[in-house]
Amino acid sequence: MPASIIVVASQKGGSGKTSCTLNLGVLAAQDGKTLLLDCDPQGSLMYWRERRETPQPETLSVRLSQLDQSILMARTQPNAYVFVDTPPHNDAEVSSAMRMADIILVPVRPTGLDLHAAEATLKLAAAMAKRTLVILTQCHAPRLIMEAPSVRQARAVFAVLGCRVAEQAIIHRATVEQSVASGMAVREFDPNGPADHEFRLVWKQVKRELLRP
Ligand SMILES: Nc1ncnc2c1ncn2[C@@H]1O[C@H](COP(=O)(O)OP(=O)(O)OP(=O)(O)O)[C@@H](O)[C@H]1O
Ligand SMILES: [Mg+2]
Repeated sequence: MPASIIVVASQKGGSGKTSCTLNLGVLAAQDGKTLLLDCDPQGSLMYWRERRETPQPETLSVRLSQLDQSILMARTQPNAYVFVDTPPHNDAEVSSAMRMADIILVPVRPTGLDLHAAEATLKLAAAMAKRTLVILTQCHAPRLIMEAPSVRQARAVFAVLGCRVAEQAIIHRATVEQSVASGMAVREFDPNGPADHEFRLVWKQVKRELLRP
């Protein structure tokens, strides 16, 4: 099977694209060969990579203009996972990467403005008939077993829009921020902590979605 191309996209800045890429990427690397491509001129993923002490997952900076070619080359690796961390806009190169994706992950903070801003990316993905999964990020913590009202409202909005949403929301947690400065994912920074648990459930679902016919 050729590599699975996982494009993490949202035109909304700060929605959690890079955090999802590196945390899911480290989990993916436990399952198979994994490559992370940073095509965002901000270079946030490379900032993390430079602080990282282990070589895996392989993380490369790619020019937006060369992204298509890099994805085509990466795709030839059998049974691998290729994550593409994109900049916060839907320009032609990002659209082109989305077109090459096996799944598009769209991180969204559960606020009205963020939902509104994510719609453009979701519409684009829908127009391409692409497998898409919204990941709710930086969420308020649940109370007892009930998800926070903002998270439930976001789920209701996405249900109306007909968008698939990851069953597990990612909560706003200090470990997600702190781990980046030490070049780690939460899997390594706080193994079996709550953020690790959340990202692992999301990664499990991404793998299920990739297998869905
Ligand atoms: N679950 C979380 N808990 C706490 N902080 C978070 C969480 N997810 C992301 N952040 C923080 O929010 C900020 C934005 O996250 P991130 O850089 O992943 O977003 P992005 O979508 O890649 O941003 P950009 O659009 O600028 O590329 C970062 O400081 C990050 O550490
Ligand atoms: Mg980013």
